Amino acid sequence: MKAALRPRRIAARGRDEGWESVIWIGAGLLEAAATRLVSPSGRFVLVSSAGAGAPARKIRASLAGQILADVEIDDREEAKTLAEVSRIADAALAAGVRRDDALVAVGGGVVCDVAGFAAAILLRGLPWNAVPTTTGAMADAAIGGKTGVDHSAGKNLLGAFHPPRTVVIDPRAAATLSDRDYRAGLVEGFKAAWIADAELSARAERDLDRILAREEGALLDLVTGAAAIKAGIVSADLKEADRRRLLNFGHTLGHAFEAAGGYRQLRHGEAVAWGIAAAVELSRTRVGLPAGDAGRVRDVLRRLGPFPEPSREGSLLASYLTRDKKSTARGIAAVVLEAIGRARILEAVSPAEWLDHASRVKL
Ligand code: GLY
Repeated sequence: MKAALRPRRIAARGRDEGWESVIWIGAGLLEAAATRLVSPSGRFVLVSSAGAGAPARKIRASLAGQILADVEIDDREEAKTLAEVSRIADAALAAGVRRDDALVAVGGGVVCDVAGFAAAILLRGLPWNAVPTTTGAMADAAIGGKTGVDHSAGKNLLGAFHPPRTVVIDPRAAATLSDRDYRAGLVEGFKAAWIADAELSARAERDLDRILAREEGALLDLVTGAAAIKAGIVSADLKEADRRRLLNFGHTLGHAFEAAGGYRQLRHGEAVAWGIAAAVELSRTRVGLPAGDAGRVRDVLRRLGPFPEPSREGSLLASYLTRDKKSTARGIAAVVLEAIGRARILEAVSPAEWLDHASRVKL
């Protein structure tokens, strides 16, 4: 095993709400994760999944003697339900969890969302830590405290804002991901660059072959850049009153595509890729995104794919779009790009306009 390089430390903090998350990023951090994870009592409820395999074993070894309960949950999107939250609560309460204990989630976006939500409601709120093991969770889901579960009416409709105390990101945790999962999660890293950082976008485009070949340094650069962007945004706007909405770039149609495929047909990142491709067309027609920038985004998405085709069944997509959390009587807010690295919100795009883009989107 190669030695750990010096880790990066990024802090996200909401001054008014009084929370702070410390994000540690570095190759090799898993081995000594216990030195970074935070629990006031020193005891942890470990939540992982079968898919979290080797990283979960390393965290278990690193926290030996400090684990109060060890729960494995189902990490498939279609199982992201209150039932999994109850399983965590049952195990933690049976083990005598107290308010000075903490949870630690080891896994991808589903595990972080479900475990974080359990932490938000157990005993009215426990501290928690995230150890993301997928590229998507490293670049996005583990950071910023959006926790929750899906409901049959739509994705993430039950949840809470509950930022983790610590996020430990080790790119080596992604070593055993399938190629499909590895690539799908990278969409979230590029998303952050496209909305906020033209230089990161240009670097990651240039380095994409190295990222796809899983070169640690190239992946670290994209994940670190995405984490820094997200930390800055959530520090200013944890509860998505304003700027945080930019992080939903590609997610409005993405969530509809994901739900229309029964959460099985497309990975979250793949659905977001299709949503971004549609949002790029909307950006061309509504705010004049230059053709060259639109072409660069599509080119990256094609290189990350090919992704399975989404469902284009209009009535099904419409029903999910109108139930989107961002939907109002006037339409649904859209995140559009004025240029790579610069995004803005269009307050009300009609479901008909969204559906038109959904029916025509190509990659
Ligand atoms: N995944 C978007 C956000 O955390 O706001």
